[in-house]
Amino acid sequence: MKKSVICVLGGTGFVGHRLLARLANQGHHLRVPTRYREDHRDLLVHPNLELRQCDIHRQETLDSLFEGCDSVINLVGILNEKGHDGSGFRQVHTELSRKVVDSCLQNQVPRLVYLSALNADDEQGASHYLRSKGEAERIIRRSARELAATILQPSVIFGAGDSFTNRFASLLRLLPVFPLAAPRARMAPVYVEDVVGVIMRCLDDQALNGKTLQLCGPQVFSLREIVQLIAKSMQCKRLVVGLPDSLSSLQATLLEYWPGKPFSRDNYRSLKVHSLCSEDGFARTGISPHHFSRLIPGWLGPATTRDKRDVARRAAGR
Ligand SMILES: NC(=O)c1ccc[n+]([C@@H]2O[C@H](COP(=O)([O-])OP(=O)(O)OC[C@H]3O[C@@H](n4cnc5c(N)ncnc54)[C@H](OP(=O)(O)O)[C@@H]3O)[C@@H](O)[C@H]2O)c1
Repeated sequence: MKKSVICVLGGTGFVGHRLLARLANQGHHLRVPTRYREDHRDLLVHPNLELRQCDIHRQETLDSLFEGCDSVINLVGILNEKGHDGSGFRQVHTELSRKVVDSCLQNQVPRLVYLSALNADDEQGASHYLRSKGEAERIIRRSARELAATILQPSVIFGAGDSFTNRFASLLRLLPVFPLAAPRARMAPVYVEDVVGVIMRCLDDQALNGKTLQLCGPQVFSLREIVQLIAKSMQCKRLVVGLPDSLSSLQATLLEYWPGKPFSRDNYRSLKVHSLCSEDGFARTGISPHHFSRLIPGWLGPATTRDKRDVARRAAGR
């Protein structure tokens, strides 16, 4: 891959961290905006990375970030908004995408990659999250003649440091009986390094221009099976109680008003549609996706013998 100038919006997040590590290793010059520069100083280990504190919702900020860029990768996304009426999702997904496309065209950026989500649909989307992602996709597709863009639609993404498996793991540690909303929701968890691999391919494979790729891992699970697998990997015996629709909806309503909004009615509506692929986006890239069940013990498993020895040494004051 030739060395390029690449702006990664949302580069400070879970997927962004992994992507930036891979891009930085290849010697690309990276521009990464953030709202909270101090929180992401760890990224400055990459000598070829500019971390800029700025407001990417301003068109002039995007213009300055995209000037001279060979590619823009947009990973910005939220799972929950501050309010409850969908305007937060529209601002971060739909309106930001409109500005990103305008600025790419204005600055003659030749390449855009957008990380959307499976089931994104501007008209039929089950939730504000999925509709606003669908609206973002529509805006990008409308500019297809002038801008080479690839849209990626992953199922749920997992990997060390994700919020998906780690949030369930934290709750499982606390609760002997686990009341699980939407236990029958089905999904095909996809490994973060595989998603990153596809983004890297998009940057230098012109055959992927104008394509939408669905990205699923090779295993399909219900949410209940996933939580049970997480508990098993942690070697923690827990009773997982699947809630019926009425109680799932009640749990979503209560947690929507809980500090930090750990779950919401919008999340629940997204879970009502199975997050499964109807076609294999990986097949176009030559990447074989990894198995969820094989990898999760890597970060959720019990402490290794070496960890235990370290704890014992510290306890003994050595
Ligand atoms: N993780 C998954 O399971 C999954 C599944 C399907 C699709 N996706 C999509 O994949 C993308 C990346 O996911 P991720 O898990 O890496 O997300 P993440 O860890 O939550 O990171 C989100 C990023 O978006 C930025 N951001 C959030 N709200 C913003 C706002 N209001 N204005 C400007 N920037 C904002 C954050 O930047 P700062 O805080 O530094 O400003 C952060 O870098 C998202 O678009 C997500 O919807 C993720």
